[in-house]
Amino acid sequence: MPEFFAATSKGLSEVLEKELQELGVKTTGKVIAGVFFEGSWEDVYQVNLQSRIASRIIKPVLDFPAYQGDELYHNILKHDFTKYIDVKQTIKVEASVKESKIRDQRFIAMKVKDAIVDQFRDKFGERPNVEAEDPDLRIYVRAKNNEFSVAIDTTGDSLFMRGYRLEAGEAPMKENLAAGLLWMSEWDRQSTIIDPMCGSGTILIEAALMAMKLAPGSLRKKFGFMKLKNYDKAAWERVVEESMDQEIEDLPFRFYGYDIDKKVLRIAKENARRAGVDHLIEFRPGSVATLTKPAEVEKGLIITNPPYSVRLGDEDNVKDVYRDFSHSLKVHFKGWDAWILSGNKDLIGDLKLKSTRKHFVFNGPLECRFLKYSMR
Ligand SMILES: C[S@@+](CC[C@H](N)C(=O)[O-])C[C@H]1O[C@@H](n2cnc3c(N)ncnc32)[C@H](O)[C@@H]1O
Repeated sequence: MPEFFAATSKGLSEVLEKELQELGVKTTGKVIAGVFFEGSWEDVYQVNLQSRIASRIIKPVLDFPAYQGDELYHNILKHDFTKYIDVKQTIKVEASVKESKIRDQRFIAMKVKDAIVDQFRDKFGERPNVEAEDPDLRIYVRAKNNEFSVAIDTTGDSLFMRGYRLEAGEAPMKENLAAGLLWMSEWDRQSTIIDPMCGSGTILIEAALMAMKLAPGSLRKKFGFMKLKNYDKAAWERVVEESMDQEIEDLPFRFYGYDIDKKVLRIAKENARRAGVDHLIEFRPGSVATLTKPAEVEKGLIITNPPYSVRLGDEDNVKDVYRDFSHSLKVHFKGWDAWILSGNKDLIGDLKLKSTRKHFVFNGPLECRFLKYSMR
């Protein structure tokens, strides 16, 4: 079985590993920002369609040490890249480098590209063109301590680009991070979630998609693997059909999203509509200072991402948000659990609550804590 790598944000590997196992593929190891798995190409289609936590699925093809350009060039020739695309298709090489003798990532990308196009020229007398925006084949090269790993992409645009979020408020979180947080919270997928500072609605929309078993990739028309020579359209259609068979039409519970900013709620509603889950989420304007339980809800879970920096308001105001939120939790949510993602340790202190669980995750470049508070 070929081996693939599912990349994700730092801190989400553990839940990604569990998700991949639930999808039925055999995981073989994990690193800080991703998980290796074995599977057929049909499995790869399925993971691209169904994984909520992965951001990209790549197929590692070469690993070698190299200290200079010629060595890099000759090692690339050891793998036959002409089997993936036709000479009339386009390529793009993306490189990153850390602590290596060859330090310039543009030089690395150029050497790898040269070796690949020379392979085509030797075989067909023609070479594929480079396309920066929407190439047919993306090749990723990573160098660390002079060890190079080369992989081909199967995804195309990142998997967090589900297609429903055309607009967002300030500091939206990526869709795959929201899904990862839902996994970390161990939410049962059968009960209410409230996000009292929901912004553009990402956490709730991802939760609704999960509960309805709607594939996160169902709105996408394009995946990288569709451009590869070995693309098996019948297998892809089978994967899509199997996924649609699992979909649930309605749920016996609802999701609730509040925000102080009415404008962002309009965006959230539009996003939910595009995702096909607007009938399941009630978005209402409101401040955390006046947050109470919806009358019809007995028990549920709170998951939220409060503002955490001066960028989203003046520091004192933000402190008040945490204090008000903490007060509402203590008074109105006895017996509930609340999970809070914050990138600001001092503000978390303003909650004056003791967390019972803690995870570290990255929201973009920002290291954040995802903390559980049990309102006993
Ligand atoms: C970091 S953003 C949430 C982003 C969201 N998770 C998303 O993906 O779009 C924080 C949100 O808290 C809202 N907010 C700030 N103060 C608030 C308050 N006192 N009550 C309710 N919402 C508030 C802001 O309007 C903003 O939308």
